[in-house]
Amino acid sequence: MLSESTARSDKYSRREFLFGAGGFATGAVIGAALGGGGLHLLPGVKAAEVKAPPWPWPYKKLDPKVVAQRAYKGYYKGACCYGTFEAIIGELADETGYPFTLIPTDTMRYGEGGVVGWASLCGSLNGASAAINYVSSEKVYPKLINELMGWYATEALPIFVPENPKAQIKVTSISGSPLCHVSVTNWSKAAGYGAFSPERGERCARLTADVAAHAVELLNAEADGKFVAKYIPPVTISECMSCHGKKAQNNTRGEMDCVQCHGDPHKK
Ligand code: HEC
Ligand code: HEC
Repeated sequence: MLSESTARSDKYSRREFLFGAGGFATGAVIGAALGGGGLHLLPGVKAAEVKAPPWPWPYKKLDPKVVAQRAYKGYYKGACCYGTFEAIIGELADETGYPFTLIPTDTMRYGEGGVVGWASLCGSLNGASAAINYVSSEKVYPKLINELMGWYATEALPIFVPENPKAQIKVTSISGSPLCHVSVTNWSKAAGYGAFSPERGERCARLTADVAAHAVELLNAEADGKFVAKYIPPVTISECMSCHGKKAQNNTRGEMDCVQCHGDPHKK
């Protein structure tokens, strides 16, 4: 059986690698690129000689449906953060090769369960944001990631229905938050499944697919020059920040929904 990386490198001829779109025809790059999925160096090529091109790397429009199915599968291999990251970067590697072939996507496994189970930032957002950052300039990545975070907090998820589901689930929920803790707990409560149940796992697998697909939709819109921000933050945030933000008390920061955690602390 072919390994994933062998199958991938077979899709590209040596010629395409050497004289393809990027035109990175240095000996060092050839040594790395021919290895396919991982960083396999040819004999005589030293790791220090492999050059990554300057950031941001070139984005090619991807099919959100393909990315969604890949992310769903990836979730069951390396969890949520790996799932979104591997789906986007892995597709870019399969579609365009170098430099995306340089990235060992397993480096994103740490994001599982909101960073090794701490239930802080949802791993699917973490992984998708990292992928967006690879291919977007300083002016572009904040607006795309902001939109992804806002969409995640306000959308009823999951939407994606896999080809071969590992569990049957129907319930969706709105997290109101990018936090794994809030997102998982709200869904578990709404659906009546435990936070450690296989059904909750299936929910997060589908949500991983949704987040990867939406990240790609945003990247595609940006690539077409058609990106429009749709997320409207709750008005309470700007109200609270008018006193607590940098122009006044300057004692907090953030874009999360203040009221979800604090209620209205000033109500008498
Ligand atoms: C009109 C200005 C103003 C607005 C608007 C405002 N705050 Fe405050 N807030 C203060 C001041 C002044 C203090 C410190 C004095 C105090 O404790 O009342 C404070 C204290 C706090 C504290 C710490 C003390 C405590 O009561 O726990 C929290 C938390 C807080 N605010 C959250 C919020 C949130 C959340 C919002 C929006 C829903 C908000 N604030 C809106 C002025 C404001
Ligand atoms: C995920 C939950 C969460 C969210 C969302 C959140 N906070 Fe907090 N905030 C806390 C916790 C926990 C503390 C520390 C304990 C406390 O004082 O309540 C805190 C502390 C504060 C304090 C106290 C500072 C002091 O001097 O006592 C202020 C003011 C505050 N938050 C304002 C805000 C504002 C404004 C927002 C929205 C932009 C916000 N928070 C969003 C959880 C949250």
